[in-house]
Amino acid sequence: MSTLEKIDLNNTPEHIAIIMDGNGRWAKQQGEKRLFGHNTGVESVREALKAAQKSNVKYLTLYAFSTENWNRPKEEVEGLMNLLVHTISNEVDELNKSNVRITTIGDLDGLPGNCKDEMVNAFERTKTNTGVNLVLALNYSSKWEILETVKSIANQVKEGTLDTDSINDEYFSNSLSTKGIPDPELLIRTSGEHRISNFLLWQIAYSELYFTEVLWPDFKEEDLYEAVLNYQSRERRFGMVSEQIEKNL
Ligand code: IPE
Ligand code: IPE
Ligand code: MG
Repeated sequence: MSTLEKIDLNNTPEHIAIIMDGNGRWAKQQGEKRLFGHNTGVESVREALKAAQKSNVKYLTLYAFSTENWNRPKEEVEGLMNLLVHTISNEVDELNKSNVRITTIGDLDGLPGNCKDEMVNAFERTKTNTGVNLVLALNYSSKWEILETVKSIANQVKEGTLDTDSINDEYFSNSLSTKGIPDPELLIRTSGEHRISNFLLWQIAYSELYFTEVLWPDFKEEDLYEAVLNYQSRERRFGMVSEQIEKNL
């Protein structure tokens, strides 16, 4: 029985978020430059997307470039931006054919012009698609997103269009860049690192966390199925006790 067959397709996470990590270490192991690892990582994005499509996942959010990643050597940052532009322009036809809808979270205005244009084009071309939503976190950091939201909410209060009593969990969630996207039930991080690195801090309040030693360029369809199977073996209690959860079944 394949791992996919073992998955209960009626109980797959609606949203999986992935911190794609380990490209540099993978390249080093091969005696190659870091950019070779990033290039190879594109194949793993295809694998993860294919697995999401086959296992009923509706939203796949990929952490592709963090606000902190600007601090990397200039050559690597430029290489990553070029890779982004080329990958999106090469893949957008295929993604469109397979009904994938591309969106982004993060500060697009802070990206080089050609990157932003490519993303906006991909977004426009795929916006009516109804298959998997591929959400690319680009120039993203959760603290940035939360601060932007706080500023916008504070301005609404100042202008008198919002009453402070109306600021609740739902209002805050709908003011984030992930508005309309359900919170991820499952967050995966590759490469054996056990940290969140400024990713979706609000949205993962109750996510199941899954860490794997696999380096991102080695990540295959099968690895996503393993993560989903592991997720399905867990009990999500949301502050309650086991007996209450069992009664609801
Ligand atoms: C993840 O791989 C890709 C990005 C952060 C853009 P890394 O480049 O962080 O790889 P390691 O962690 O150095 O191995
Ligand atoms: C997190 O990976 C960011 C992305 C995957 C885009 P990093 O490799 O940059 O994270 P840290 O710096 O090791 O925490
Ligand atoms: Mg890393």
